[in-house]
Amino acid sequence: MEAKQDILIELNTILDFIRWAATNFTKNNLFYGHGSDNAFDEATHLVFYALELPWDLPEQYFNAQLTTKEKQTIYNLILKRITTKKPLAYLVNQSWFCGLQFYVDEDVLIPRSPIGELIKNNFAPWLPNTEDVQSILDLCCGCGCLGIAAAYQFNQASVDLIDISSKALDVAETNINMHNLEHRLQTLQSDLFENLSILPVKPKYQLIICNPPYVDAEDMNNLPTEFSFEPQSALASGNDGLDCARKILASAGDYLDDNGILVLELGNSYVHFQNVYKGIPVEWVNLQQGGHGVLIITAATCKKYRNKLIAISEITI
Ligand SMILES: C[S@@+](CC[C@H](N)C(=O)[O-])C[C@H]1O[C@@H](n2cnc3c(N)ncnc32)[C@H](O)[C@@H]1O
Repeated sequence: MEAKQDILIELNTILDFIRWAATNFTKNNLFYGHGSDNAFDEATHLVFYALELPWDLPEQYFNAQLTTKEKQTIYNLILKRITTKKPLAYLVNQSWFCGLQFYVDEDVLIPRSPIGELIKNNFAPWLPNTEDVQSILDLCCGCGCLGIAAAYQFNQASVDLIDISSKALDVAETNINMHNLEHRLQTLQSDLFENLSILPVKPKYQLIICNPPYVDAEDMNNLPTEFSFEPQSALASGNDGLDCARKILASAGDYLDDNGILVLELGNSYVHFQNVYKGIPVEWVNLQQGGHGVLIITAATCKKYRNKLIAISEITI
């Protein structure tokens, strides 16, 4: 990278810094995928964050001149992103998902689930009218992005958020408070459904949304440096990536309303799923905004194939 003094003199405008950051991100082979998917968007995000500017800034402001202090702040952030390879969301403790802002730190995965697309579409055609949805579970909630985004869409619903990590739940609580949703959302520390099973009355949900750890051993060995900053317990799930999914599928039927659905993200591990769960009817979502490996399984299917789902969960791979 050029010397800081030169950059502070030669670059002047918002656009200058976005362009220069994008060039240097590309030169340094950064990985994108934690909020943006290309160098230019990553650079725009960084510069707008540093200048506290809104996403919909009109183009005429792109040629606005920056002060020396602003230039220094941006330069330092660009340098940090390049030298550490830490995802920008962790450097700025901020992430955007479904048009909503979230606090994030290294105790939680950075939000990027393709389930966001389904939330924005109210899970049509799988769920009834949004007003009829009263109970939602965000299983493996991390920072709470899925449960919180769902609470905005289904504004009559109570949402439970479960994670095994108390640190992740602290972050989820921060986000629930930030969005003023304390009256409808509650967190619970649990190993999947374990602490629900000991409640006097088992809760039944119309919708269970779940982005569990699902990266298989092969993919875990080939992840770019950026992923090493995320909790590994949020990513890895055994040899075939299905360790968590097996347990979830074996029990989900016990916690679904008769007409309920489980929406389960499996990413690349959908390939393993198709081998292991042959004959179980699930629907793979045709995602329009990118991503893959999200399935829908109904309560009726979970109940009908209960024994088979339990038998599969007992096999160790
Ligand atoms: C892939 S992250 C998803 C986080 C969030 N839902 C999102 O989409 O950004 C998976 C989360 O599952 C949690 N987790 C891992 N094993 C778990 C278990 N056995 N029970 C509950 N949560 C678990 C991790 O702590 C992590 O927060």
